[in-house]
Amino acid sequence: MALKTGKGAEAPPFLVMDVIAAANARAASLPPGAPGVLRMEVGQPGTGAPRGAAEAAIRALQAGQPMGYTEAFGLRPLRERIAAHYREKYGVVIAPDRVAVTVGASGAFPLAFLAAFDAGDRVAMAAPFYPPYANILTALGMVPQILPCDASTRFQPTVAMLEALDPRPEGLIVASPCNPAGTMLSRQELDAIASWCEANGVRLISDEIYHGLSYGAEECTAAGCSDSAIVVNSFSKYFSMTGWRIGWMVLPEDLLRPVECLAQNMFISAPHVAQVAAEASFGCIEELEANKAVYARNRATLLRGLPEAGFDRLAEADGAFYIWADISRLTNDSVGFAARMLAEAGIAATPGVDFDPARGGRFLRFSYCGPEAAMAEAVPRLKRWLSV
Ligand SMILES: Cc1ncc(COP(=O)(O)O)c(C=O)c1O
Repeated sequence: MALKTGKGAEAPPFLVMDVIAAANARAASLPPGAPGVLRMEVGQPGTGAPRGAAEAAIRALQAGQPMGYTEAFGLRPLRERIAAHYREKYGVVIAPDRVAVTVGASGAFPLAFLAAFDAGDRVAMAAPFYPPYANILTALGMVPQILPCDASTRFQPTVAMLEALDPRPEGLIVASPCNPAGTMLSRQELDAIASWCEANGVRLISDEIYHGLSYGAEECTAAGCSDSAIVVNSFSKYFSMTGWRIGWMVLPEDLLRPVECLAQNMFISAPHVAQVAAEASFGCIEELEANKAVYARNRATLLRGLPEAGFDRLAEADGAFYIWADISRLTNDSVGFAARMLAEAGIAATPGVDFDPARGGRFLRFSYCGPEAAMAEAVPRLKRWLSV
């Protein structure tokens, strides 16, 4: 007899992982000496943890520290260091008690969703969006409420869109800079959204994982404009520590104990040695700024070169390391287009359907966190490919 499978078993794949697998297969099949595959699909820095962070982990291991569980909310010195980061970077005073260290930002989402919402609750988000928001909510029986956004609002939600929602959602997720569009909310926009959420009893979750990676626009934290918002951040992007699996939340007072109990039950703690490394990464700013300078140069290369190659409708690339290209003049099948681009031009990028099931057939996400030489080579390759 076939056994029942749960709702969570229906979670769709995160398609970018399939693109990564296809790009790996293509790279492995190339004869020696052939031009390699240019990787513009990956959403992770190729640089690895900063040296000082890795060295702190090595020192702790060599000193024979047992690296057992930590408290559910993490090592005290790391929580204090994160709280200090809010004072230094944003001028916002956060009590270290409000900082919860998590297993990446990914580990923060189920904790935040389960603490703040019930099955059946609606949680709004702009489309295009980071797919796990909707997939995790759905797996938990919650209902993503999609706000279709376009270049006219920089692919970000507005108070007018929220006002128009009927019924009102129980929650709202914002991301600035966002993935995949790379666009940001201004201080006024974030303030207005946070005030609207407070006035309407809507729990705001602000994904600030790409903070540190913006190229001129001001980064504002929701922790500075709302005491009821949940802020999510991570060491994966600016701090270049994806595989170390450390993120954090700044929690509102009313959710501190509920999230702590959930975290004790679901994760016990984030990896101990990685927490030691994460604390040390705050001392590696020179190295991290050098990584960011590479992204900035890559961004400039592509913003100049992609339009010349035929990708002339690009979202404002305020931050993160993505360029969201409207390719509707070229195709309405981004999956087929990306597959051809990989097979014929040797360039991997992510089809938009991952991020916007309804309209993503007309968009492609280019990631520019790879090496400078690859980004420079991508432009002439794309030009040649599209002019054939
Ligand atoms: C917008 C956004 N949020 C969260 C994550 C998850 O990051 P991590 O779990 O590595 O901290 C990612 C990863 O790509 C992301 O792009």
